[in-house]
Amino acid sequence: MAKTSRIVALIVAAGKGERAGGDVPKQYAQVAGKSVLAHAIDGLAHPAVDQVLVVIGAGQEDLYRDAIGGRTLAPPVLGGTTRHESVRNGLAALAGEAPDVVLIHDAARPFLPAEVIERLLTALTEAEGAVPVLPMVDSLALGDAARHAVLGDPVDRSCIVRVQTPQAFNFKAICAAHDAWAEDRKATDDAQVARAAGMTVVTVTGDARLEKLTLSGDLFAAGARGRAADRPLVSRTGLGFDVHAFGPGDAITLGGLRIPHDKGLVGHSDADVALHALTDALLGAVAAGDIGSHFPPSDDRWRGAESRIFVEHARALAIAGGGRIDHVDVTIICERPKIGPYRDAIRASIAAMLQVREGQVSIKATTTERLGFTGRGEGIAAQAVATIRVPEVE
Ligand code: CTP
Ligand code: MG
Repeated sequence: MAKTSRIVALIVAAGKGERAGGDVPKQYAQVAGKSVLAHAIDGLAHPAVDQVLVVIGAGQEDLYRDAIGGRTLAPPVLGGTTRHESVRNGLAALAGEAPDVVLIHDAARPFLPAEVIERLLTALTEAEGAVPVLPMVDSLALGDAARHAVLGDPVDRSCIVRVQTPQAFNFKAICAAHDAWAEDRKATDDAQVARAAGMTVVTVTGDARLEKLTLSGDLFAAGARGRAADRPLVSRTGLGFDVHAFGPGDAITLGGLRIPHDKGLVGHSDADVALHALTDALLGAVAAGDIGSHFPPSDDRWRGAESRIFVEHARALAIAGGGRIDHVDVTIICERPKIGPYRDAIRASIAAMLQVREGQVSIKATTTERLGFTGRGEGIAAQAVATIRVPEVE
């Protein structure tokens, strides 16, 4: 990414962490060998970020000093009684040497993958604000927080996203938005403040590792994840293979792409043979079974399903265990249709599904010299290899 502007990260760490409980506010608790705040600071130590500034609560100076250890940072800024106030104080402290871009981050989110920073900064070239979001996967319903007893009406989750931090903004615009925000209004993040001021905030894909530590128990879970992150990564390789027969139709789906053809592919889902082989390769690399054990063909939920769901599931499994996808290589075996014209689009489609760079995805195609079932044009086969780095088993 070409660097053209000054980018500063502001970490808000002035909260009391009341819901998490514990001896010290959660951002100062130890997780996997260092404080939660130190994890957040180290996550923002990205080549694109010029400076990191932390906002702390009154009386938290000693906790802060212990928490940052030997890291050299500008002196912390004093926060306020609300998150909004803390952010505003931080922005005010930066105003003297105003940066072009500010990344505002919760100290309570210790694990920040570099790819999220890169996605945000790329998105910010087109908008005044950018935030990482994740889809809602649980069912949603109205509840009765007081009684925990009676379940209310369902809520459509397809129109809901979970908003994470860091959130990236044009510095001047977010300062003006915070200044315009009524002091007595509640804001749990900065995107709300930005939108209220009329700023356009775009979304990028967030990351499960960015989960905020909020409740008691979250610190324990973060400790386990952090320990996994601290273990050395070892490379694992998985292999996948799949076949689908041709049937009636006027298009096939390959790598998530619809490709016009004089036949279709027969299968329970969308019969995307390339993505099925890829899913098995990903699952194989993390020794997590095969596509059939996760998505049984007997289950009607997967009838006609888009196979990207399978790939995304396998990716999530690999990532949840601390894995990083290094490379995938897919070979599509058929006489027709010709894959060449679609190769780049398939590559981009798979890179997007896996949230990796296109350089980490290889797509190849071959015929079998008119031999065998692919040679006779009875179907398409695909092979895939995935290389994933995973934390070494203790
Ligand atoms: N925060 C802050 N100043 C405040 C309140 C919150 O800087 N007055 C920070 C927190 O330290 C945290 C982030 O904002 O990094 C997100 O807030 P939240 O998760 O609500 O943390 P706390 O307010 O500390 O927790 P609780 O609401 O349970 O007391
Ligand atoms: Mg709070």
